[in-house]
Amino acid sequence: MPAKGPAENIETQDIEIDLLLEAVYKKYGYDFRNYSKAHLKRRIFHRLSMAGLSSVSDLQGKILWDRSFFNSFLQDLSINVTEMFRDPEFYGAFREKVIPLLSTYAHIKIWHAGCSTGEEVYSAAILLREENLLNRVQIYATDFNKNVLESAKEGIFRDKDMELYSQNYLKAGGKSKLSDYYTSKYGSVIFDKSLTRKVVFADHNLATDDVFAEVNLIFCRNVLIYFDKTLQNRVLHLFTRSLSNRGILCLGTKESLRFTELEKNYVVIDKTNKIYRKESLISP
Ligand SMILES: C[S@@+](CC[C@H](N)C(=O)[O-])C[C@H]1O[C@@H](n2cnc3c(N)ncnc32)[C@H](O)[C@@H]1O
Repeated sequence: MPAKGPAENIETQDIEIDLLLEAVYKKYGYDFRNYSKAHLKRRIFHRLSMAGLSSVSDLQGKILWDRSFFNSFLQDLSINVTEMFRDPEFYGAFREKVIPLLSTYAHIKIWHAGCSTGEEVYSAAILLREENLLNRVQIYATDFNKNVLESAKEGIFRDKDMELYSQNYLKAGGKSKLSDYYTSKYGSVIFDKSLTRKVVFADHNLATDDVFAEVNLIFCRNVLIYFDKTLQNRVLHLFTRSLSNRGILCLGTKESLRFTELEKNYVVIDKTNKIYRKESLISP
């Protein structure tokens, strides 16, 4: 048999990864087939070395036969890095340009898609309270990772992160002190439960689930970067169908509607922070 060159090894690895993703989808229903290949490779090779396995095929066997090993793999693929008032300038633009639009609504439905451990949800709730809009909102905060949803519901964060979060809050135009919204206990802080009185935390997978409500505003920041173009388009269509007429889509600094097939259906509210408004009477 001829010796394998490096190119052939890469090709074989790509085949193994495709088979692994297909197997995960068939066995567990989680669809990672349209995640960014670079992201998948990084995370798969991380798990391979952690488990001391030598090939993706070996990893596949372990994932298929061992549910708890699959759960660890799921955590690997779901990057949960987040912060309160992450990218404070985004919240500044939101306060300046979106709040005046929302103020004209009697009831506001908001969807945080890919909410992770909830820092973004608590940040937005604080901002809405300061703008006297929190009592008008219904918020859905979703993620496909059940572990992060549990921690989001609790609203307990690490005390040591509060210094950075307080700085972010002030840069974002915060009107009092972040510490007014939480109490400290044994190295943790617990946020005021009244902030999430109108929040429903729920399991929703952007790769496989559909519209669940009509909403006026969607936050989906730092999520689409993990998807390939096909999945990004699926999710953007899902958002466009979920948004009411003239609903607002907040993608944040890293993602954009530029060069997507749905770009023409939106007007730009803030170019840097990728805040868009759906044109009226679009039915994609
Ligand atoms: C990096 S965090 C972003 C959290 C927050 N939006 C922020 O900007 O700080 C990405 C989140 O997207 C979630 N996610 C990844 N794929 C998903 C999918 N198919 N459906 C729903 N959530 C997903 C991950 O579990 C993770 O919690």
